[in-house]
Amino acid sequence: MITDVNPFVYSHPVAPEDVIDRDEEVRQLLRHVVGGHFVRLYAPRKYGKTSLLRRALRDGERDEGLVPVLVDLYRVSSVADVTVRLERAYAKELKGELRKRVEALLQRTGVGLSLGALGISARLQLEPRRDPLPALHALLELPLRLDASGGYRAFVVFDEFQDIGRIEGLDGLLRSHIQHHGEVASYVFAGSEPGLMRLLFETKERPLYGAAVPMRLGRLADADIAGYVAERFDLSGRSAGEAVNPLLRAARGHPQRAMLLAHRLWEEVAPGTEATIEAWEAAHAAAMRELEPEFDAQWRGLDLSEQKTLRSLSLGDGSPYRSAVLRRLELTKDAVRRALPRLAATAEIEELDAGGYAIVDPLLAEWIGRLNDRA
Ligand SMILES: Nc1ncnc2c1ncn2[C@@H]1O[C@H](COP(=O)(O)OP(=O)(O)OP(=O)(O)O)[C@@H](O)[C@H]1O
Ligand SMILES: [Mg+2]
Repeated sequence: MITDVNPFVYSHPVAPEDVIDRDEEVRQLLRHVVGGHFVRLYAPRKYGKTSLLRRALRDGERDEGLVPVLVDLYRVSSVADVTVRLERAYAKELKGELRKRVEALLQRTGVGLSLGALGISARLQLEPRRDPLPALHALLELPLRLDASGGYRAFVVFDEFQDIGRIEGLDGLLRSHIQHHGEVASYVFAGSEPGLMRLLFETKERPLYGAAVPMRLGRLADADIAGYVAERFDLSGRSAGEAVNPLLRAARGHPQRAMLLAHRLWEEVAPGTEATIEAWEAAHAAAMRELEPEFDAQWRGLDLSEQKTLRSLSLGDGSPYRSAVLRRLELTKDAVRRALPRLAATAEIEELDAGGYAIVDPLLAEWIGRLNDRA
């Protein structure tokens, strides 16, 4: 049996007890939820939204008796998709007595819903022309029925919520239900694309305008990352030693990048020994090699003025308008002005409180830096 396993997870959400330093965010989120407020949670990709939400759902169930439901809306593109995801979310989360109750409630709706294997997704496969809308309405009404059947309060999280923006009329449909749920359910809408989230919640004409308290997830503090990394090295019979500082400098508080670098570093360190600067350099190089295809694809997805604006930001240390840099890149101020909001809308970059911009992903920033050095 393999017992000496790498303790740093970076490719999927981490377990609630492995979440670093989000205690205050979880508390704040739960305070809103218990108070009956709806919340929209924003953070760039891979900042730990899903990990945090799972932890909040666990604590909400354990400490507040809420019924936890995590709906993953990643890349949904139709009403049928949303219906299936919502049904599967209930199927995954509910256990025991409550599960039986919900199953009975769903059966009674007579629209083909079930928490078992033969739920709405199977029905839709067998009968592709079947209208999923009645089933969706029934699922969205479930919190009202749960309340009526025993005073349960649901805690429903829609993860990757921005993806419903592509389905005509869905935000209106959702609102028509949840606006009556203040007493029976709390909703959290999480998303990673600030542009789309703003469109859904900050546009006057949209049904969800102003419907949820905004919350934002920031970077992790260096001290918290350092403590976590050092402890996990110790627990697995190694020491992170002098490699911690360059790791913190490279990760710049980005949660997933910190874990990726820690994972790679751990791979370089034999049991019973301490990480050296050479081990760090090898780990860093391995991480950059691993990310090369990802960065390359991301880069190809940008248009030329977006690419140049990112390069200009990198050369100008956060200020994209330096004349010498613009000349070198054959870039006009106007093109930069138009590219910045597009890059911010997809969270490639973020505006800093102190002024200027930062590239969100520190390793992408490094990759762009190398591109500049090469050109
Ligand atoms: N608070 C944290 N403590 C420890 N690791 C974290 C934390 N937040 C994020 N991570 C790291 O980031 C990775 C991604 O986390 P998670 O999937 O929760 O983020 P996400 O924002 O939901 O990402 P995506 O945008 O891909 O959905 C995890 O595998 C983990 O390595
Ligand atoms: Mg996620």
